[in-house]
Amino acid sequence: GGTAAIVPAAGRGERLGPGEPKALRSIGGIPILVHAVGSLVSSGRIDLVVVAAPPGSVDGVRELLRAFDSVVRVVPGGGTRQQSVSLALDAIGEEHEIVLVHDAARALTPPALVGAIVDAVACGHDAVVPVLPVADTIKAVDPAGANVTGTVDRSTLRAVQTPQGFRRSLLVKAHAAAASTDTTDDAGLVERLGMPVSVVAGHAEAFKVTTPFDLLLAEAVWAERRK
Ligand code: CTP
Ligand code: MG
Repeated sequence: GGTAAIVPAAGRGERLGPGEPKALRSIGGIPILVHAVGSLVSSGRIDLVVVAAPPGSVDGVRELLRAFDSVVRVVPGGGTRQQSVSLALDAIGEEHEIVLVHDAARALTPPALVGAIVDAVACGHDAVVPVLPVADTIKAVDPAGANVTGTVDRSTLRAVQTPQGFRRSLLVKAHAAAASTDTTDDAGLVERLGMPVSVVAGHAEAFKVTTPFDLLLAEAVWAERRK
């Protein structure tokens, strides 16, 4: 069976500050979304990419992704990330047994990580996420955020990235049961079904461009790669 990837790219990027929608901002003169789709396609493991575009920029996004015309479909995204993923999932048929979900904002994700996620799902893990150890000491605070109530055991915590990989049927079930939740990733919806989620080693360069600092970091990583 085939493998499809969903790229939620419809967010406005409030934390990045004023400007175009985040997916259309550039790293090294290339839009973030083009970087992200490029890394999925160059993994050589993806047959179809469905992009959930900012609703006002669907035609512009199609134009930007012209070079990937044979593998890319563009649909308008929704008001939340979950809605954007769900709308893109509607455009993926049963012939795609494996579906990845990958944030456009993780522009510089190494293609090898895409391959590792596909491999893990193909091996029988129906939900797979890339994770990294947590570097900082983590404290719990009171509801006011004023006082520390404890220090959390970091050794059993992981920071979660994308691409996340799923057996298509499981992802469909998870989104159907989702209604409106505050889950920030797709694996979280699978967890709500009580189904197992397994992990593979993530990659530092799969970081999400969220703040202006991240954009600065991305420019530096990209410049280094170009050398
Ligand atoms: N996303 C989406 N549809 C939404 C909201 C987010 O497709 N309604 C996508 C973003 O485009 C991004 C990914 O989900 O690629 C991760 O979300 P995040 O980093 O939070 O992006 P934004 O929501 O755009 O940023 P912010 O929260 O700072 O506004
Ligand atoms: Mg957001």
